[in-house]
Amino acid sequence: MIGKAVQQATRLIQVRGFHASRAHYIAVGELLPNIPLQEGSPSKEISSRDLFKRNKRALLIGVPGAFTPGCSKTHVPSYLDSHPQLKQKGVDLVACVSVNDAFVMKAWGESLGTEGKIRMLADPKGDFVKALDLAFDATGVLGSIRSKRFAMLIEDAVVKKIYVEPDNTGITCTLARTILEDL
Ligand code: BEZ
Repeated sequence: MIGKAVQQATRLIQVRGFHASRAHYIAVGELLPNIPLQEGSPSKEISSRDLFKRNKRALLIGVPGAFTPGCSKTHVPSYLDSHPQLKQKGVDLVACVSVNDAFVMKAWGESLGTEGKIRMLADPKGDFVKALDLAFDATGVLGSIRSKRFAMLIEDAVVKKIYVEPDNTGITCTLARTILEDL
């Protein structure tokens, strides 16, 4: 009896745990969960669903970490460079979320010049990316759970397309130019 319970618990950990390689994250057609995010400072809370509901067509990118080389030099700049083309394709809002605190996200946005182009959203405890099933264990490198690198096209808070880097941190299918070709 106890053996069976342990077996079941182990299976649950394998399925729900960060090490399982699976693709059960939020799917096309699903409504975004309503989880508070922060923008600018910890006291400025934003409801994820309200943010994306108000904007007809939005792109949300998730990144492993503010100020990390790949995110700072390649991934987020690809969306800054493509901002005019994204607008032309009817994207009203581009937002970036990371498991970092709001002050770090603000400073990162200032360093990259995202103002007016990309909303820099903080998910300090990772509740939002966990709810999307897009968190991974990055304790060995970045000290905590982080967001897999992803991009999502969202219309009225419903996921229309989703791209997730298969190794969590690579920069291939989530680059702006790849997304643009598919819009
Ligand atoms: C990056 O450069 O984007 C990166 C570095 C370490 C861990 C994850 C991402």
